[in-house]
Amino acid sequence: MDQALQDALRELGNETGSPLRIGGIAARDLVAAHGSPLYVFDADVLRRRVREVRAALGPRVELLWSVKANPSLAVTRCLRDEGTGAEIASLGELHVATAAGHPAAELRFAGPGKTDAEIDAGVAAGLTFHAESADEVGAIAAAADRSGRAARVAVRINLPGELGGSRLRMGGKSSRFGVDEDRVPAVVRTIAGHPSLRLAGLHVYGGTQGFDAAAFVRHASTVVARSAAWEHQLGVAFDELDLGGGFGVAAYAGDPRFDLAAAGHGVQELVHANDRPGRRWFVELGRYLCAPAGVYLATVVRTKDSGGERHVVLDGGLHQHAAAAGFGAILRRPPLLVHTDDPCAIGTTVTVGGPLCTSADQFAEQAALPPLANGDVVAILAAGAYGLTFSPHSFLSHATPAEVMVDAGRARVVRARGTPSDSLRGQAP
Ligand SMILES: Cc1ncc(COP(=O)(O)O)c(C=O)c1O
Repeated sequence: MDQALQDALRELGNETGSPLRIGGIAARDLVAAHGSPLYVFDADVLRRRVREVRAALGPRVELLWSVKANPSLAVTRCLRDEGTGAEIASLGELHVATAAGHPAAELRFAGPGKTDAEIDAGVAAGLTFHAESADEVGAIAAAADRSGRAARVAVRINLPGELGGSRLRMGGKSSRFGVDEDRVPAVVRTIAGHPSLRLAGLHVYGGTQGFDAAAFVRHASTVVARSAAWEHQLGVAFDELDLGGGFGVAAYAGDPRFDLAAAGHGVQELVHANDRPGRRWFVELGRYLCAPAGVYLATVVRTKDSGGERHVVLDGGLHQHAAAAGFGAILRRPPLLVHTDDPCAIGTTVTVGGPLCTSADQFAEQAALPPLANGDVVAILAAGAYGLTFSPHSFLSHATPAEVMVDAGRARVVRARGTPSDSLRGQAP
């Protein structure tokens, strides 16, 4: 069996050969009770991921949950209860994070297109900005001046060179994200010299779905070295260093494993060599904390043969789990899709797609799966990140799926299922 699939099943506590269970409850029973399609999150897996990452990174590194990966209130709250901080990228995420119990003043706010209204709200909340440009720093200063309240600002830097091993790089070249290295001194001087701004430190985020732990550590080491050089050159102190994250999760057949122990070891050495009283170290993670905890369940609606191939049509698809259909990926590869009655079995080849009127709505082409009949339930594993909210769920106006969290053997709805009449919401004739 594919290693990534095996790992994803093991993560959910599933033994080979038995019907899929999530948090101890049969996937079929979850669909019977809560409908289909359905997202399910296992709280135990979320907590375990946080514990494993914190143990690997050591006690000096604070872990920030990247809310964008899954802005579910229940997921965010579960992670917070386990000790994560949070970083946000919109006012909507500010609402989620504070509703989940994060003090606003402890949040970090990244993103290259913060509007003046968002900046005003961020200043009022007392959070720390991860500023992406000199222009944005000017806007934060103006907002702080207007409100009479000082604003904390860390500079997101765009380092030359690549973060190796990342599937989607977000730095190392001309970019909307972060301040180019040669411009950092001027931006830092502006912050340090402005009476309404407080220089917090530096932030970097090189890319997502990184599978090369050594490359992450090298990248983080470069940030730390630059930080020391700039402190010396500019006579400032960077009390916060956010080393980024982007640790990869195997979500497609053939994906490798991220070596958390190696990343943790490297970060601990780096921190140890560069620590000082009052300094705060951060790593920010989305996918790595929540992807393995989530499963997307969908039901077979129709089967047919065409052109010598077997096709299975589900009640869910690209509009609800776009990433599994290849959206955002450079190379389209099959997700970890299984028959819930027998997740380890392989049988006939079948093409699995959703109900949308586009050929893009396809999860697997000629995948080896046990025979699927109408009413059978399939599962996409490692689906806890960049799921529903990463997907164009208004396309074709299907009702959005419910989300359920399983904890201590009980399932509860944490996002209500939509209704077909949601398609009219906010519209005027
Ligand atoms: C600034 C920033 N931080 C954190 C993340 C979360 O990345 P991941 O879910 O890969 O951990 C992203 C994702 O795009 C990001 O842009």
